[in-house]
Amino acid sequence: MNIEEKLKELHNKAKELFDNAIDQKQVEEARLYFLGKKGEFAKVMEELRNATPDEKKVLGKSINEVKQFVEAKVLETRERVNKKINELRLLQEKIDVSLPATKIEYGHLHPCTKIYLELEDIFKRLGYTVIEGPEIEYDEYNFEKLNIEKGHPARDEQDTFYITDKILLRTQTSPVQARVMEQGKLPICMISPGKVYRSDSVDATHSPTFNQIEGLIVDKDITFADLKGTLTLFAQELFGADIKTRFRPHHFPFTEPSAEMDVSCFKCGGKGCSFCKGEGWIEILGCGIVNPRVFDLCKIDKNIYSGFAFGIGMERIALLKYEIDDMRLLYENDVRFLNQF
Ligand code: DAH
Repeated sequence: MNIEEKLKELHNKAKELFDNAIDQKQVEEARLYFLGKKGEFAKVMEELRNATPDEKKVLGKSINEVKQFVEAKVLETRERVNKKINELRLLQEKIDVSLPATKIEYGHLHPCTKIYLELEDIFKRLGYTVIEGPEIEYDEYNFEKLNIEKGHPARDEQDTFYITDKILLRTQTSPVQARVMEQGKLPICMISPGKVYRSDSVDATHSPTFNQIEGLIVDKDITFADLKGTLTLFAQELFGADIKTRFRPHHFPFTEPSAEMDVSCFKCGGKGCSFCKGEGWIEILGCGIVNPRVFDLCKIDKNIYSGFAFGIGMERIALLKYEIDDMRLLYENDVRFLNQF
């Protein structure tokens, strides 16, 4: 093959290789194939050595032309490939602003927390202060100072977890009453929320850990009328303005007289339905006038002061308000259940 023919072939091959190149690696390989130290043009120059000076003039010109063609092809192809790559990248990175955004899942408060905040809000508006007490408590506060001495039958109803003879997990939030009264800062108008413990087994209405809110007012001239007025207002705030309350005599060692408060069933308005088990009434809390013996034990002058107290089971209120029929659901943390609130 003479040089002219060879150049023609190189021209065609260059056109083919560069036009088909799809990335910079292929461009570079093609460039080296033609223009590299041992490339095709180097070989052609080698052959040119054997030509006569006249032939060299003509062939040299032809070689240069084809070489310039190849060099131009290299630049042109590099640019073309670059552009293509950029286009592809832009396409990949393209954001469709009309697509719906990824939904951010916010959690929400647990139904028990919601109920607590609602109760707290009602009492705060009535002027009550929130005071917390320890969950690990002395027998003295949990029982003795609340007029529940050793051997008292109320201790059996509130069997708990003893840490030592004298220290236990509190069975009620009532010991906070004794702690606050003992400090002697009067008048007192407080609520105290928190966990309480009893050695009960788990079922639809029992749990070894649950939450209560204690309430205590101590001042001059506090009567049962104040208790009824306050707790009725509370029930109406919680369940609706047309709710009625009734107070049934009961016994708690630290209040005298004591009562359990029922609210008229908010499902049937008191007529009796499956929710209130035909009663028309639903029990919601325990309450009473502070027993003068407790004042003595906590060093408050019973001749000057009087007061009332109440204890509310938080889970019980949550079950009622949200119409949940099994207390265990509140503790199982199943999001399918919790999502409903
Ligand atoms: N501590 C009582 C319980 O756990 C509830 C209670 C009843 C608290 C009457 C009170 C009260 O303050 O006056 O069963």
